[in-house]
Amino acid sequence: MLEETQLTNPASMEEIAALAKRRGFIFQSSEIYGGIGGFFDYGPLGAVLKRNVKDAWWHEIVEMRDDVVAFDSSIIMHPDTWVASGHVAAFHDKLVDCKNCKHRFRADHLKTLEQCPDCGMRGTLTEPRNFNLMMKTQVGPMEDSASVAYLRPETAQGMFVNFKNIYQSARKKPPFGIAQIGKSFRNEITPGNFTFRVREFEQAELEFFVPHDGRDMQWFKEWVDARKKWYSDYGIKAERLRFYELTPEERPHYAVAGIDVEYLFPWGWGELESIAHRGTYDLDAHIKLSGKDLTYFDEATKQKYVPILIESSAGMDRTTLTMLVDAYDKETIVDESGKESSRTVLRFHPKIAPVQVGIFPLARNKPELVERAQTIERALRPHFRSQYDEGNVGQLYRRQDEIGTPFCIMIDYQTLADDTVTIRHRDSMQQDRVAVAQIASFLAERIG
Ligand code: GAP
Repeated sequence: MLEETQLTNPASMEEIAALAKRRGFIFQSSEIYGGIGGFFDYGPLGAVLKRNVKDAWWHEIVEMRDDVVAFDSSIIMHPDTWVASGHVAAFHDKLVDCKNCKHRFRADHLKTLEQCPDCGMRGTLTEPRNFNLMMKTQVGPMEDSASVAYLRPETAQGMFVNFKNIYQSARKKPPFGIAQIGKSFRNEITPGNFTFRVREFEQAELEFFVPHDGRDMQWFKEWVDARKKWYSDYGIKAERLRFYELTPEERPHYAVAGIDVEYLFPWGWGELESIAHRGTYDLDAHIKLSGKDLTYFDEATKQKYVPILIESSAGMDRTTLTMLVDAYDKETIVDESGKESSRTVLRFHPKIAPVQVGIFPLARNKPELVERAQTIERALRPHFRSQYDEGNVGQLYRRQDEIGTPFCIMIDYQTLADDTVTIRHRDSMQQDRVAVAQIASFLAERIG
């Protein structure tokens, strides 16, 4: 494992955020009104990038397995859910206010409580007090305490309270899992680092229930390995990813094991996902408060038991941000005449790239080239994420490099003569001459 200092960052977070805005990946929410802290919108390319990340997770965790079922629960649940889960009593951060500059801080982010880090005044920070991170709302027309509800701070609880509905209707027996992707909300005191810490985000969570047959730690390790493979399969640089094993002091008291998946961002290591062996804590808590039976009845042994839970919980906004940061590169290139220039390129994995193939005519004022390029783009569209564009060739390549398109096809006069095109590779910038009839198989071989 490389030390942080040995790894260079090709760009600062500000540069990456600027590109994300310029090229339509991510915008500040409600920007025309000055924005709102901790909320972001995904632009035309960002929406596709994030969808690809979620689809990649879903494909691997749900579609490729016969022991995981799909689920989609409501954002607002019965308020008792959050009492049983412990969120009402303990989902707190310690908050400190500065009486002088009125700025607010997380106590665990401060080096000292003696001096305000923003205005520098001494003795102006309040004592730390608990601040619950759950966002409150009202359900129904009455604005009284009985109508208070919460926007879920995690998707997991929907899967726990439905455990029996799901295993009975899907006819599943432990070991089996439930997976869902959905929005979660946390009223973070200090949102920041672009989309890393936000107040509205999406989680992809897997709750995997296993029997008490002594193989629970083996399942935990299998899920850690599966998740390692996933990040590697989608091209995340191994030297910027680590699987940090939580110490017993760092884990909740009921958890038997825990691993945080962390990525080395320009500001340091940040958590993307937590993988935990949670024992029977979650189902036990709902059984206790609801009084309902959420045990599994094993027909074969005629025994009832509360299964052990292995959880993998990944943030889709953080994973999308990781894809952007990890793909970002700047390099100096030298043309045939020896002239140097620099290019910014997003080296997305082809399966994740928002546009997989760009198609352009050599000249936009030549109808026969334009028509041929558009026909080829339409033929590729059902199979690849394709995009037709036209204009100055250098600028077209520059734009496609900056949005991470792995292949670009140029339609030129030779195409009209012999039905071949030039395919340019984003990373090497090398070009191949390929017959039009072979384009789809050429791309499929390289994109997968
Ligand atoms: N059910 C377990 C759970 O929610 P967590 O570690 O609190 O565990 C899981 O959250 C993941 O959700 C984190 O690893 C992170 O990727 C994402 N996440 C949590 N808070 C977030 C926030 N404020 N902004 C963006 N993503 C967040």
